[in-house]
Amino acid sequence: MNFLAGKTVLLTGATGGIGAEVARKLSAAGARLILTGRSATKLKVLQHQLAVEPLMYCCDLTSTAEQQDLLQFCQQHGGIDVLINNAGISQFGLCQQQQFNDLISINLLVPMQLCQLFLPVLRQRKGQIVNVGSAFGSIGHPGFTGYCATKFGLRGFTEALQRELAGSDIQVKYFAPRATETSINSSDVVQLNQQLGNSMDSPVWVAEELIKQLKSNELRRFLGWPERIFVRLNGVFPALVDMALKSKLTVIELFAEGKNH
Ligand SMILES: NC(=O)c1ccc[n+]([C@@H]2O[C@H](COP(=O)([O-])OP(=O)(O)OC[C@H]3O[C@@H](n4cnc5c(N)ncnc54)[C@H](OP(=O)(O)O)[C@@H]3O)[C@@H](O)[C@H]2O)c1
Repeated sequence: MNFLAGKTVLLTGATGGIGAEVARKLSAAGARLILTGRSATKLKVLQHQLAVEPLMYCCDLTSTAEQQDLLQFCQQHGGIDVLINNAGISQFGLCQQQQFNDLISINLLVPMQLCQLFLPVLRQRKGQIVNVGSAFGSIGHPGFTGYCATKFGLRGFTEALQRELAGSDIQVKYFAPRATETSINSSDVVQLNQQLGNSMDSPVWVAEELIKQLKSNELRRFLGWPERIFVRLNGVFPALVDMALKSKLTVIELFAEGKNH
């Protein structure tokens, strides 16, 4: 049986690299979609590429008023079965250069607020939540202090909520891609990954993995080798990961300070 057929999925960040691929796969599986993004033009382009015409809601999710309007919009259209918190931004640079407010707002506060807001709706439908984290939600990486903080936070929030709702019909899942070929990564980050020999996944494959998790009972999914090993290693023997990253620090600093040009 196709679990997704007829289910209504609210997907944030649908106009992004991973989000658009997830939207295509969900639509092909017969899901009814409510897609959000800030760009009306990008949403329109995506709308024409999908098997089933989606509902679209263009907004900046960092506004709590817009979040309330989105909730109302979803309720007016029959509620939702699945919430996928995928919208996010990244920043690469040394700690002194980072702007934390925007990062914390969209990567951490917004998914927490949307979970809170949509819980009553999801309860009615035995629904599920998927929060899109990152390998950097388990491995602190130089040059990504703010981003790592938000994704570590999101992982903690997701785990706590999942355990809080363990006796209920709602499933709460954490999905953690590693570096993926989307425009969230600046050209400096792409070049750094090439220099360090870090693989980057295609958004099509990442979207397939997210759909697999959605259909399964798997509460946590981490993508890619060796990142999955590093995630575990960092939990048990962080000093080993300290050493591995220290050996790469000179290169990372060069890129983070923009001195690679
Ligand atoms: N790509 C990677 O290397 C990678 C690795 C691990 C985890 N992830 C995570 O995967 C998720 C998707 O990333 P991606 O690579 O697909 O990034 P992306 O291509 O840059 O897409 C980001 C999406 O988030 C939306 N967004 C950003 N700020 C928003 C705001 N204030 N309000 C509403 N929507 C907002 C964007 O909407 P508009 O474009 O319409 O503004 C866009 O749809 C993120 O949570 C990211 O942290 C990505």
